[in-house]
Amino acid sequence: MQNILIIGAASAIAEATARLFAAQGANMFLMARSQERLSGIAGDLKVRGAGSVRTASLDANDIDAHQAALDAAYTSMGRFDVVLVAYGTLGDQKKCEADPDEALRELQTNAMSTVSLLSRLANIMERQGSGTLAVISSVAGDRGRPANYVYGASKAAVTAFCEGLRSRLYRKGVHVLTVKPGMVDSPMTEGMELPAALLAKPEEVARDIVEAIRRKQDVLYTPWYWRFVMMGIIHLPVKVFKRLSL
Ligand SMILES: NC(=O)c1ccc[n+]([C@@H]2O[C@H](COP(=O)([O-])OP(=O)(O)OC[C@H]3O[C@@H](n4cnc5c(N)ncnc54)[C@H](OP(=O)(O)O)[C@@H]3O)[C@@H](O)[C@H]2O)c1
Repeated sequence: MQNILIIGAASAIAEATARLFAAQGANMFLMARSQERLSGIAGDLKVRGAGSVRTASLDANDIDAHQAALDAAYTSMGRFDVVLVAYGTLGDQKKCEADPDEALRELQTNAMSTVSLLSRLANIMERQGSGTLAVISSVAGDRGRPANYVYGASKAAVTAFCEGLRSRLYRKGVHVLTVKPGMVDSPMTEGMELPAALLAKPEEVARDIVEAIRRKQDVLYTPWYWRFVMMGIIHLPVKVFKRLSL
C-alpha cells in the first residue's frame, strides 16, 4: 500500500488526485491551512477506500514550521512513496505592479516556501532512497507574459528548482515530476473570463498526475495539448512576443 503526503491538500487538483489514490487504498497524510477543510476531505477519502488518513494544518508561508511538520509526517507514516506539493495562489498581476510588496508576497508563497519544503523533502527522500516528489508548477512558468508574469516568475523558479533537484536525486532512487497544468476550472480561476474549450477539470488533471507518477515521467503538461501550445509560445521570437498582450 502506498504512503502519500499531500501538501496543499485542500486544492481542487490535490483533492481530485487524493481521491484517485484513495480508490487504490493508499495511506494518506494531508497538510493544508484549514483543519476544518482537512477533516472534511479526510472523511471523504476514507469513504472512498483510503487505508488511513492523517492530517496536520500547515501554512506554507510559516517556513519555521516546515521541518517539524515534515518530520512529524514522516515519523507517522514511516515512508513517503509519493509527495504531492499542490498549493499556490494566482495573485492579482495589476496589484503586484502597483505594490511591489504584493509581488514579493506572491513569490514568497509560490516559490520561496516551495523551495524550503522541497529542500527538506529532498533530504528526507534522499536518505530514504526511493519515492516520487510530484510538484505542481504551471505552464505560466515557461515564459513571462504581461498578464501574469509575477505568478509566472514564481512558477519558473519552481520549474527550474525541480529540474536541478531531479538530476540531484536521480542517482539516489528518487523521482521528481514537474506538473505543468494549463487552465484548470478550480477556485483559483473562479470568476476569470477564460476560454471554456481550454479549461480542464481538476479530475482530468488528477488522472494525468497519477499516471505520470506511475510512469515516472519527468515533466507533465496537462491536458496533453499544452505541450504543443507552449512549444509554440516558447519559440516565438522576443521581437514578436513583446508585442503580444497575452
Ligand atoms: N487552476 C489553474 O488554472 C492552474 C493552472 C496551472 C497551475 N495551477 C497550480 O495548481 C496548484 C493547485 O491549484 P488549484 O487549481 O487546485 O487551485 P485551488 O483549488 O485554489 O488551490 C490552491 C490551494 O493553495 C492553498 N494555499 C494557498 N496559499 C497557501 C499557503 N500559504 N499555505 C498552504 N496552502 C496554501 C489554498 O489553501 P486555502 O484553501 O487555505 O486557501 C488552496 O487550497 C497550484 O500550485 C496552482 O498554482 C493551477
